[in-house]
Amino acid sequence: MSIIRTQVGIVGAGPAGLLLGHLLHLNGIDSVIVENRSREYVIDRVRAGVLEQGTVDLLHAMGVGSGLQRAGLRHDGLYISFDGQRHRIDLAELTGGKAITVYGQNEVVRDLIEARVQTQRPLYFEAGRVSVTALESTTPTLRFEHNGDECEVRCDFIAGCDGFHGICRPAIPESVLTVYDRVYPFGWLGILAEATPSSDELVYTRHERGFALFSMRSPSLTRLYLQVPPDEPIANWSDEAIWREMMVRMSTRDGWRPNVGRIIQKSVTPMRSFVAAPMRHGHLFLAGDAAHIVPPTGAKGLNLAASDVLVLARALKAFYEDHTTAYLDSYSDVCLRRVWKAQRFSWWMTSTLHRFPDANPFDDQRQIADLDYLTSSRAAMASLAEQYVGLPAEVPLEDAGLPIGGSSEPLAGRRRDAVQAQVDDHLPVDVPGVANHVVHDPDLR
Ligand code: FAD
Ligand code: PHB
Repeated sequence: MSIIRTQVGIVGAGPAGLLLGHLLHLNGIDSVIVENRSREYVIDRVRAGVLEQGTVDLLHAMGVGSGLQRAGLRHDGLYISFDGQRHRIDLAELTGGKAITVYGQNEVVRDLIEARVQTQRPLYFEAGRVSVTALESTTPTLRFEHNGDECEVRCDFIAGCDGFHGICRPAIPESVLTVYDRVYPFGWLGILAEATPSSDELVYTRHERGFALFSMRSPSLTRLYLQVPPDEPIANWSDEAIWREMMVRMSTRDGWRPNVGRIIQKSVTPMRSFVAAPMRHGHLFLAGDAAHIVPPTGAKGLNLAASDVLVLARALKAFYEDHTTAYLDSYSDVCLRRVWKAQRFSWWMTSTLHRFPDANPFDDQRQIADLDYLTSSRAAMASLAEQYVGLPAEVPLEDAGLPIGGSSEPLAGRRRDAVQAQVDDHLPVDVPGVANHVVHDPDLR
């Protein structure tokens, strides 16, 4: 058995785990990241696309924004479409210049894995039988199998960043968790198509046959979604049937419609709103989808994961630098305030734009009135805009050890050099009372 000593054991190498690992690294805090899937699987998984202004600022301030800078598509507005007409909402004008950026989650994950590898801190892929124990003690333990070897990571804290189906949330006794849950009677069929996007901005469509969404990944890749029954087998949908339905739902009276191209990926995702509270149990902290999920209509999931780990990074930094637990103690409450606002917004976007199977003519008219009001009232558009680009951050970036105000440049020279020197010399971080033994796995670089 290999025994590994670290400060923070991180379960999951999705956006939450990788962002947290890098934020901790920038603050000289050691971590071990353990992921049960392969590196290729994690990078190839097609999911989110919309980054809030605050998430973009965070990635730049962390020095991992060069891919985003090169390939991210800044959108100053979006369209809401109903009754065959598109209505533009000018996000930037309504929010004093804020915008969203379309940049695939898989690209974010790829950039963060590269950054992690450069730090030479451990990241294990294809870990088997991952488990966490002794969560209520000051020495929680993370165990897993890797290449036939049993590994035990002795930690000060464990971050459960292992998504909705992970093992960390179920490791918390049921009696201390309150679960809030809503399952929707529909899912999204998503496709990626080799087609030039026919709009520069996203189009959210309400149609009597169901919701549809036009998005993109690059100047040559269109990303589209259709509302379908939640358990719809993807095999029911030939490419021709998908395009036919996309055209019926999305085409507008002015002749706009998506361009057609070869479909290179398709899948069905069920939709759910879910919160588990509190997000902390003893020395285990849940972050991202491990603690909460939102229906993707509001484009909030990845952004919430980023916000959680920023709050957690500040708390861990304060613990190691100032020996204070105040921010660790308030972690769950601070995160949940934002989570519930995102839940409300995502539920509202979903229920306003989707067709519910039991909807009656009253519901149809109410939805149309909601959208009519939204697209004709500046106050209503401003409310959508401020939530869509992201409510103000819970934690100033500098409180998590990042450059003030964010920057499109990598971290400023002095700090970067200091961190890099520490890594180059393989020097353990000097924290009183915390031994710091990092085991490197050459296979993972
Ligand atoms: P995950 O991405 O789920 O990562 C968890 C990681 O933990 C995974 O790599 C998993 O393999 C690993 N893991 C699981 N179990 C274990 C285990 N036992 N041991 C070790 N590792 C484990 N969000 C947005 O903000 N904007 C959008 O535009 C958007 N669009 C979306 C569209 C779709 C179709 C979907 C499905 C989601 C969308 N989301 C969006 C949501 C977003 O993808 C998620 O909220 C985000 O992935 C959460 O990140 P995470 O790191 O918390 O969890
Ligand atoms: C996407 O581009 O994948 C996307 C965009 C907006 C959403 C959800 C997903 O609300």
